[in-house]
Amino acid sequence: MVATASDPVAAHTAAVTPVVDIRNLSKTYKLVLGKEIQAVVDLSLEIKQGETFAIVGPNGSGKTTTMKMLLSLLFPTEGELLLFGRPPGHPEVQSRIGYLPEAPYFYEYLNGRELLEYYGKLCGVPSSVLTKRIEDLLQMVDLLERGADMPVRFYSRGMRQRIGIAQAMINNPDLLILDEPTNGLDPIGTVQVRQFILEQKKQGRTILLCSHLLSEVEAVADRVAILHRGKVLAIGPVEELVPESHQWELVATGLSREAIATIKAAGFSPDVHGDVATITSESQDDIYHALGLVRDNGGQMVAINRPQPTLEQQFLKAVGEDDLRRTVGSLQRSAQKKNK
Ligand SMILES: Nc1ncnc2c1ncn2[C@@H]1O[C@H](COP(=O)(O)OP(=O)(O)OP(=O)(O)O)[C@@H](O)[C@H]1O
Ligand SMILES: [Mg+2]
Repeated sequence: MVATASDPVAAHTAAVTPVVDIRNLSKTYKLVLGKEIQAVVDLSLEIKQGETFAIVGPNGSGKTTTMKMLLSLLFPTEGELLLFGRPPGHPEVQSRIGYLPEAPYFYEYLNGRELLEYYGKLCGVPSSVLTKRIEDLLQMVDLLERGADMPVRFYSRGMRQRIGIAQAMINNPDLLILDEPTNGLDPIGTVQVRQFILEQKKQGRTILLCSHLLSEVEAVADRVAILHRGKVLAIGPVEELVPESHQWELVATGLSREAIATIKAAGFSPDVHGDVATITSESQDDIYHALGLVRDNGGQMVAINRPQPTLEQQFLKAVGEDDLRRTVGSLQRSAQKKNK
């Protein structure tokens, strides 16, 4: 239902209305004995049409809870949620979303083809297009030969994930919500999912995914939100979250203890593991100076690198710093209590 050039007003409205608009969203689970879990805390974000947005975060950070609220499978405790400018439960919204759950569960006695037929009919896909679409989707997820006629109860974990992806596409959705899409897939499957996401992106679909595989996210996402304990720690384009490197790295081998001592005396701090020494600096001139010292002292250069920080490092830094602040805070509080 992507707006077309024949309807310029609808096209303009679709382009300016965010596909996902989350404002100050919170979700608190109420447990027994008055206990509560704050799964999502004051989350705000917008996803524009055609954007691929990823939520990354450690276990229990609120990713699935956020997705379930978007699907109106859970109700927010506070805040506002709009999809295509409408509330999540609206029938038009539902018909425009494809969802791959975290742990897809299917009716075990249906085979792959029957399962897609079942979901297709459930989503109101006309019979005239359903049969062809099912075959195309089975082909896309590599289950046409092995899986189409096999009951789902005999599927491996990766095969379940693949039929789950096909199921999410059965209604030709405008917004794809993928909760850990590479869960249980082998390396080939992981690459196929990456290609699948890039292909959907090319076709103009809006994609929201959450993943632990930060390198995967880095390869496909336009923007990323790092979620931790229900709160957004950082949000922005991947290239903004991962700043450009200013580091140089010289890797050398064949250096004696005396040679290492000479390099240290020149002001460098080589990191030595066995026969391999790594010298880092922000200055390219210093690295060439170090290279001279290596050669003059009987060593050989292995490589000069410019190591790029990865999203994973940024993620660990953001999450680690937050954990550190909490630990220090709670230590300070307990010290204050003791001193009272
Ligand atoms: N139905 C529920 N009842 C009570 N607490 C819940 C429920 N579902 C999730 N939680 C809690 O909410 C928090 C967020 O869980 P959520 O499943 O959203 O995290 P997640 O980021 O998807 O984690 P994972 O990476 O492990 O999938 C966790 O502390 C979890 O224990
Ligand atoms: Mg989850």
